[in-house]
Amino acid sequence: MDWGMKNRIESIFNRKSGKTVMLAVDHGYFQGPTTGLKKPAETINPLLPYCDSLFITRGILRNCIPSNINVPVFLRVSGGPSVLKELSDEELTTSMKEAIRLNASGVGMSIFVGGEYETKTISNLGRLVNEAEEYGIPVLAITAVGKDMGRDARYLGLACRIAAEIGAHMVKTYYCAEDFEKVVEGCPVPIVIAGGKKIPEKDALQMAHNAISKGAAGVDMGRNIFQSENPVSMIKAIRAVVHEGYSVDDAFELYNNPKDDSKNN
Ligand code: R5P
Repeated sequence: MDWGMKNRIESIFNRKSGKTVMLAVDHGYFQGPTTGLKKPAETINPLLPYCDSLFITRGILRNCIPSNINVPVFLRVSGGPSVLKELSDEELTTSMKEAIRLNASGVGMSIFVGGEYETKTISNLGRLVNEAEEYGIPVLAITAVGKDMGRDARYLGLACRIAAEIGAHMVKTYYCAEDFEKVVEGCPVPIVIAGGKKIPEKDALQMAHNAISKGAAGVDMGRNIFQSENPVSMIKAIRAVVHEGYSVDDAFELYNNPKDDSKNN
């Protein structure tokens, strides 16, 4: 792997733990002003000191995030259908030139394995990887789950492996309680988990803990952080699980009684 590509990937992984806590705030690209992100700057800016990378669209990056941040940006570069339409009908929406102009450390897009437009999204991934390789920009493939698709190890394993085979440098997928380690084993590139719909804080910490113990390289979590009653405490607790090996009980205790620290501590 070329130095630039390696350097960009390594920039989002914590040197001590080798893991990453990415903050996903791209939901508006198909959901509009969703709960917790109605005023993106108010939600995102207090969380910036605690994330290892920001997963975001160019519009919210340009309009809501200060340009002097010290956080690597992964740019969501696919979209098209709103939540009202067939979600798998995505196109690439943001060029590589634009990603470089925005100083992105990586780009990300969804594939819809089993979805109506499966072939189109997988071929989009191939084209994105071709272009990204030219500039040393890593690609995060997101194994989105369509309306009728299950979230079991068989399906997630299929989708993650296809993403890696097509050339994705990292994969974001969902956690499944049964056989998640098989999903990880079958995918030769690092896997981070999305959090999915908001669940109680302790359950979300448990999910992160399980995923890490079964081989995930980290999380790219959104709603379970920014929709939490206390987003800053929640991201600190998630960091403690991912980077410091906290038990779920200890991390939940930290959530309830947060320490005054940041990602550098
Ligand atoms: C979908 O909107 C995006 O890919 C999100 O970045 C991803 O689902 C992670 O966010 P959450 O933890 O809210 O599922």
